[in-house]
Amino acid sequence: MEKSNGQRVILFPLPLQGCINPMLQLAMILHSRGFSITVIHTRFNPPKPSSHPLFTFLQIPDGLSEAETRTHDVTLLLTRLNRSCKSPFRDCLTKLLQSETAEGKQRISCLIHDAQWIFTQSLAHSLNLPRLVLNTYKVSFFHGHFVLPHLRRQRLPPLQGPITNSEQDDPVEEFPPLRKKDLSQILDEETELLDSYSDKILETTKTSSGLIFVSSCEELDQDSLSQARQDFKVPIYAIGPSHNYFPGSSSSLFTPDSTCIQWLDKQEDRSVIYVSFGSLANMSRSELIEIAWGLSNSDQPFLLVVRVGSVKDAEWIETIPEELMERIKEKGKIVKWAPQQEVLKHRAVGGFLTHNGWNSTVESVCEGVPMICLPFVWDQLLNARFVSDVWMVGIHLEGRIERNVIERAVRRLLLEPEGEVIRGRMKLLMEKVRRSVKQNGSAYRSLEQLVDRLSSF
Ligand code: UDX
Repeated sequence: MEKSNGQRVILFPLPLQGCINPMLQLAMILHSRGFSITVIHTRFNPPKPSSHPLFTFLQIPDGLSEAETRTHDVTLLLTRLNRSCKSPFRDCLTKLLQSETAEGKQRISCLIHDAQWIFTQSLAHSLNLPRLVLNTYKVSFFHGHFVLPHLRRQRLPPLQGPITNSEQDDPVEEFPPLRKKDLSQILDEETELLDSYSDKILETTKTSSGLIFVSSCEELDQDSLSQARQDFKVPIYAIGPSHNYFPGSSSSLFTPDSTCIQWLDKQEDRSVIYVSFGSLANMSRSELIEIAWGLSNSDQPFLLVVRVGSVKDAEWIETIPEELMERIKEKGKIVKWAPQQEVLKHRAVGGFLTHNGWNSTVESVCEGVPMICLPFVWDQLLNARFVSDVWMVGIHLEGRIERNVIERAVRRLLLEPEGEVIRGRMKLLMEKVRRSVKQNGSAYRSLEQLVDRLSSF
């Protein structure tokens, strides 16, 4: 680590796995550049201070009941958190700034908060504290999704009436590379609540001192970055896949089952399909069974992550029939949570069946692992289109989850010449993205600019 530069940065992550990892990776990067780090976090889904002994962690009450933390409605959860954390966060931040003045040792230079905390603008302004926004989505999604409320309010095409079969695959010109069927799925989840939440995120971002994209860089997002620079009118920093700066660092909210690495050690090179749907996606019991049958029937070894509570109306995997469990034991392994970055690095892994959360997508690109895309909701549909239609480094599963479709996709990716072609393209993309975080790469330069900016406050 560089010598302390006498400046402290306050970080305020959103308490979701896909948001905590990137924020703490940013913390590690800034710490290595001499900044001291304080993380303010909620009681719900707290990060583990023991994994980061050099940072200061301060917990604030979030007012959520046990039942409220178990909701599957993420917008509702975030709306409640924003409502109940506003005043505890203000108290915590005010105290920190007062103690800074009293001690006079270290200067608090700025606040960096997740884009989805929408109450920070007036608070930071009243405290005279510079504020930057951290975004964990792909740039094109973050920038593009503000068009959704507008499209709906204006009742513009493509939202006039149900989509006919022949229109399903038509491009959405306002939001490329989405297709009409993707858009109708995204808008299925759209509610009034989400529209006004999006408006608030936009306003909070536009009035900030800068916007940071972790896990994005020119190589993955060139056009949207130029557009976002014009539209947001604040400095934008795309610092690239943040885990590449500190390989192996993950701030997991769940306990990873490392026995899967020993299991992978026994498999042949590039023979295994790794299957995981991140920290939020839920599936039905029959979907789990279709996936498990499809994997078993492919006759390839597979590592399947089933998060506790991710299968509706089930505790874990107890609803898988015995006959299928016997088949799974022959070729597969099921765990509750995996050390994903380590798994994707493993020589035995040849493909990733994923929901295309942005972190998983980028982690896969960084290890050169081609994907089978099974997006569930929201930005995952856009990420999946980039993987399959733009970069062409994966196979997209369309329609309902069915065993024969899964089986076929696994075999195409791992055993057939088509898979080799996809793997070749993925290797080129991986090399481009890895170069971007090396000295003089685009992400590296952006990080230098960010460090200069924070030092100037
Ligand atoms: C959420 C949203 O669902 C996603 O659409 C958005 O892009 C980011 O926020 P999540 O569903 O958790 O994220 O997916 P993802 O972004 O892929 O993040 C999951 C993280 O958990 C990854 O960093 C991954 O490495 C880690 N993980 C996942 C594990 O460490 N072990 C696992 O078994 C599964």
